[in-house]
Amino acid sequence: MGYFMAAIYDGFMDATEQACLRDWRAQLLAGLEGDVLELGAGTGVNLEHLPRQLGRLVLTEPDRHMRAKLTARVQRLGREAEVSGASAVALPFEDASFDAVVSTLVLCSVPSLEQSLAEVFRVLRPGGRFVFLEHVGAPRGTSRRRIQGLVDPFWRHAAGGCRLIRDTERAILDAGFELDAVERESMRKALAIVRPSIRGVAHRPS
Ligand SMILES: C[S@@+](CC[C@H](N)C(=O)[O-])C[C@H]1O[C@@H](n2cnc3c(N)ncnc32)[C@H](O)[C@@H]1O
Repeated sequence: MGYFMAAIYDGFMDATEQACLRDWRAQLLAGLEGDVLELGAGTGVNLEHLPRQLGRLVLTEPDRHMRAKLTARVQRLGREAEVSGASAVALPFEDASFDAVVSTLVLCSVPSLEQSLAEVFRVLRPGGRFVFLEHVGAPRGTSRRRIQGLVDPFWRHAAGGCRLIRDTERAILDAGFELDAVERESMRKALAIVRPSIRGVAHRPS
């Protein structure tokens, strides 16, 4: 993401946070318990929604500029959390070591969606929850999908590898998860090309 993106990220996202993301994050994260891993935690926006009474809390963030902001927010909020520079495609954690994995607006940017989801599956305990909130490709055949496809090659260079046309819900199922709940909704006040979103909970079957 780089220094510039880390510096402007919270301000750039503010209108969308107020319009919908803030409520969605709160709904998704409030009930988490046990050992929790967050992928690509960015500047740490989810910290205020993650319950304080968790077991282990690990926040990964491979970008050093974002990670510096994240570490500062962890300290500011007085949270007990381990901050790691690990990428979602190669998580340095043992099999079946977390009760929940959180990913918000991250799977668009990982170099391999399939490898990242395989890693999430691996580190979750059987029955463990995968909590996601992601912008995704619009339904196939729609004009928005066509526009996303046209813009994608340029966008990914400008936006830290972010891809516009990922079928993330399908990929979650293909990785072996069972879906408990999913909402498909427009991310209000976001750029039109990133508005289609999914959010919900899946679990690793026991
Ligand atoms: C759009 S930001 C979202 C930040 C935060 N999760 C949020 O909800 O505001 C995407 C984040 O994913 C991180 N990221 C990019 N590639 C990643 C990877 N391979 N593994 C983990 N995180 C990654 C970026 O560094 C960035 O912080």
